[in-house]
Amino acid sequence: MIEQFNRDGTLRHLITLANLNRTQLNALLDHAETYLVGHAHYAPREPRLLGRTVALLFFEPSTRTRVSFHLAATRLSADVVTLDGDASSRVKGETLLDTVRTLEAMHTDVFVVRTAEAGIPALLAGHIGRGKALINAGEAHCEHPTQGLLDVLTIRQHKPDIRNLCVAIVGDIRHSRVARSAAQALGILDVGELRLVGPEPLLPDTNEFDGAVRYAELEPGLRDADVIMALRIQRERMRKEAGIPSNDAYFKRFGLTAERLKAARGDVIVMHPGPINREVEISSAVADGPHSVIGRQVTNGVAVRMAVLARIAEGLSGTP
Ligand code: CP
Repeated sequence: MIEQFNRDGTLRHLITLANLNRTQLNALLDHAETYLVGHAHYAPREPRLLGRTVALLFFEPSTRTRVSFHLAATRLSADVVTLDGDASSRVKGETLLDTVRTLEAMHTDVFVVRTAEAGIPALLAGHIGRGKALINAGEAHCEHPTQGLLDVLTIRQHKPDIRNLCVAIVGDIRHSRVARSAAQALGILDVGELRLVGPEPLLPDTNEFDGAVRYAELEPGLRDADVIMALRIQRERMRKEAGIPSNDAYFKRFGLTAERLKAARGDVIVMHPGPINREVEISSAVADGPHSVIGRQVTNGVAVRMAVLARIAEGLSGTP
């Protein structure tokens, strides 16, 4: 496993949340909070990444993660370059490693990578030079660490007593890097109860999500939940869709509606990492309703990514 911290304790890479301890995780969340000023602003621009270059390498589509990393890096005064996988020389046969080496030759300091292939962020982190950093911006079905951070930050803001919370993740958990990173972060924070709710073909293997309770029916899975995290069905990650319900059939059985929300606690918060498929995993009435904190998750995404970049800035080599 790639060492994510430098010898002096500064953050070098962020590939996974799995080996962070509670102190390290809370420190990142506390740092992110410093960038949130009221409801309408982020904190003023900081010079922490002045003279540094952050490269956003996205080999899968993204709206929230890519834009929020761009904003975060810009607010820390970095120069930002974005490479879209489909529009890069990758389509002419260049390897990913050669792509990274090319950007490294242009003195890129931080690589932010989204990929459909498992293992790529750690592989690239093992090849980039000393004093350079890599952040995983979403890796296949495996990891999405900054999403996990923004999710637990959002939960902590609304319900700080995480050890006494019941969190229900609902939907396509099998193919979800969001669910895996959220579960890692919630585990580190010692969540009271974690439920995995969805039709059997969309639930993960039983040897995953240590300690979580599985529900193949929605209503018992939502009963008395404090937090509900709805997930999109990720058909793009499925080799075959045998046994996977159609969108209509899924909504009838597992769609999060205002009526079904009544099974949860009265002050339940409803989360969704986005993008949302309305009237498939969640009704518009719930997505836009009083329990929804989906917009807050997006706002928190910039602050969390600023915190991660700021921590990484402390360990970059040389003067910019
Ligand atoms: N939640 C998330 O990763 O969204 P994007 O795919 O739009 O970045």
